[in-house]
Amino acid sequence: MSKKAAARVAELRQALEDANYRYYILDDPNLADIEYDRMLRELADLEAAHPELRDPNSPTVRVGAAPSGKFATVAHDVPMLSLGNAFEDDEVREFVARIEKETGDGAPMFSVEPKLDGLAISLRYEQGAFVRGATRGDGSSGEDVSANLRTIRSIPLRLRGKAPAVLEVRGEVIMPNADFERWNEAARARGEKPMANPRNGAAGSLRQLDPRITAQRPLAFYAYALGQVEGASLPPTHSQTLAWLRELGFPVSAEVGVAQGVDGLLDYYRRIGERRDALPYDIDGVVYKLDRYDQQRAMGFVSRAPRWALAHKFPAQEEATTVESVEVNVGRTGAVTPWVLMTPVHVGGVTVTRATLHNADQVARLDVRVGDTVIVRRAGDVIPEVVRVVEEKRPLDRRGKPLHPPFQLPDKCPDCGSAVEREEGEVVARCTGGLFCPAQRKQSLFHFGSRRAMDIEGLGERFIEALVDLGYVHTVADLYRLTVDDFIAMKQRADEMAGTVPETVKAGKIATRWAENLVAAIEVSKASSLERVLYALGIRDVGESTAKTLARHFGALDPLMAADEEALKQVPDVGPVVARRIAHFFEQPHNREVIAALRAAGVHWKEGPPRRATEGPLSGQTVVLTGGLASMSRDEAGARLEALGAKVSGSVSKKTSFVVAGEAAGSKLAKARELGLDIWDEPRLLAYLAELER
Ligand code: IVH
Repeated sequence: MSKKAAARVAELRQALEDANYRYYILDDPNLADIEYDRMLRELADLEAAHPELRDPNSPTVRVGAAPSGKFATVAHDVPMLSLGNAFEDDEVREFVARIEKETGDGAPMFSVEPKLDGLAISLRYEQGAFVRGATRGDGSSGEDVSANLRTIRSIPLRLRGKAPAVLEVRGEVIMPNADFERWNEAARARGEKPMANPRNGAAGSLRQLDPRITAQRPLAFYAYALGQVEGASLPPTHSQTLAWLRELGFPVSAEVGVAQGVDGLLDYYRRIGERRDALPYDIDGVVYKLDRYDQQRAMGFVSRAPRWALAHKFPAQEEATTVESVEVNVGRTGAVTPWVLMTPVHVGGVTVTRATLHNADQVARLDVRVGDTVIVRRAGDVIPEVVRVVEEKRPLDRRGKPLHPPFQLPDKCPDCGSAVEREEGEVVARCTGGLFCPAQRKQSLFHFGSRRAMDIEGLGERFIEALVDLGYVHTVADLYRLTVDDFIAMKQRADEMAGTVPETVKAGKIATRWAENLVAAIEVSKASSLERVLYALGIRDVGESTAKTLARHFGALDPLMAADEEALKQVPDVGPVVARRIAHFFEQPHNREVIAALRAAGVHWKEGPPRRATEGPLSGQTVVLTGGLASMSRDEAGARLEALGAKVSGSVSKKTSFVVAGEAAGSKLAKARELGLDIWDEPRLLAYLAELER
């Protein structure tokens, strides 16, 4: 019996390791999640029944072993070095010049790599099996975090192919940005403390004393260097070593490459810099490594850093400045968002004066007060945020007490005086005034006229402000009643109130062209589409993609307005919460009146028959198409998949069954990879369609 069990255990382990490799390294999964889970369960059951077959590197250890107390100290036989830093191009030129001079090579090749912002780790393998993993520590010795590292699924526990007797691989443990965001969202929903940033998330997760907790954290690993190696002859260059590591089963960043001479390096730096925000993980610069090992040896080391490598860092994305005031803003859905007005500061290439505090929890956590010195961060195109307060610099009064009290979110809306309330389990506080609240009304109007909604050219924030404040517009339908004279009168009153009467007006001339254009733009917007109108209405949680799905699913507005929650839940991508929001929106008499008024004003769109998922071999599957296909349009591909019963959705989520990725697929593909979804290329789609459409 045990012999049979042993054979099955070996078979399952092999299959699960292969699946992991296909999934994490080749990005070409071969097993469905349920099949993987089933095999893992079978293996766990067998291991429980046959303790003699247990193995510390079995795929079952990914769930985390029981805690074993403090971390032991591990000495690094080959020290873990640090890197010299450069911020300026000139420093890179000096670095390359030094290498050219000392190696006599006029155009040396470099391995160029992203500088991952996580935690450096050394992994030790003996005879192809993982034996130990440790943090960098002080470079000479670190902490043994093996049990935690075993839970990271992209770290191989057994190497593929011919493994050397001893192999130490160094790399970075990181938390991918999308996972970090998702984690924090869930943590906030549970009322737990969110992680400060992905780097802290990775570090904190790896230092957990209970590996079962680490196993819950979305960590990843990328290899970029070697430590001790015995029983293998290395290739002659670092870039070839990275390729070899990938073959052995280690993830290597997709951004690594080679570049020649200083121009090649600076070009790489610039190109990565441009794509920085689109990468799935945080990087704080790039690393250049002289590629040929014989040249590396010739350059040698200074103190604890190699002379053959250089970290070229990006300008800091975090800066310190002072808080001038703390304000709140009321959004379209009433969300009350606290933010700070700051002394202007240059962060990551732009000057910022405002940073968000997100919500009341964050305000309480950070305790930002007027006069405080704060660290602000800008990540990509997201709104700058306050990271923390430098408490030592808080202004104090003569008695040593803080000069300003803690900031409190108002309990009345600053715009309409309605109560500000926070629903049970929600982080966001909202003004309860609804469309009675001018702030919400303005935001709704702005959204209604925005380019992707009704696309009313020229209807900017300033006009909306005046239209609402002076009582010209109460609902979005009122826009369609406005005349050229209304606009001119409104502008005159607004100018008078602001004391900014233009010279032309004083001279008795009144410009009317702008008003004529605006009225014309409003007129043009009447010819719209159902999906635009649905999006423009500003139903909470109905973005462009959901609006489009709703428009297709119902074909016309009336059946959608009549649909109950149950019917709405049948729509792809619409879950119970969104279904409730939509049903609730259309139940409100006020909203029905606005829609009737829009129609009466002449807003119109084409309606068609509902296009619902048909029954077929793909029934129950949700598919996302992204990127361009060579053999047909995306719409055609979508229609053919729908004809087979699939729901075609515009956004990737855990519920997506598979993603078809064509040429130049972007963020959706990246998200699908992160979620570990099944990703199809065009040939696979064509083969599948050919098979099923027969
Ligand atoms: S190589 C001998 N490559 O940067 C050179 N390091 O400042 C050893 N890091 O502790 C390091 N990405 O945590 C290397 N592609 C990369 C890296 C990288 C990030 C970190 C690593 C190291 C620190 C050195």
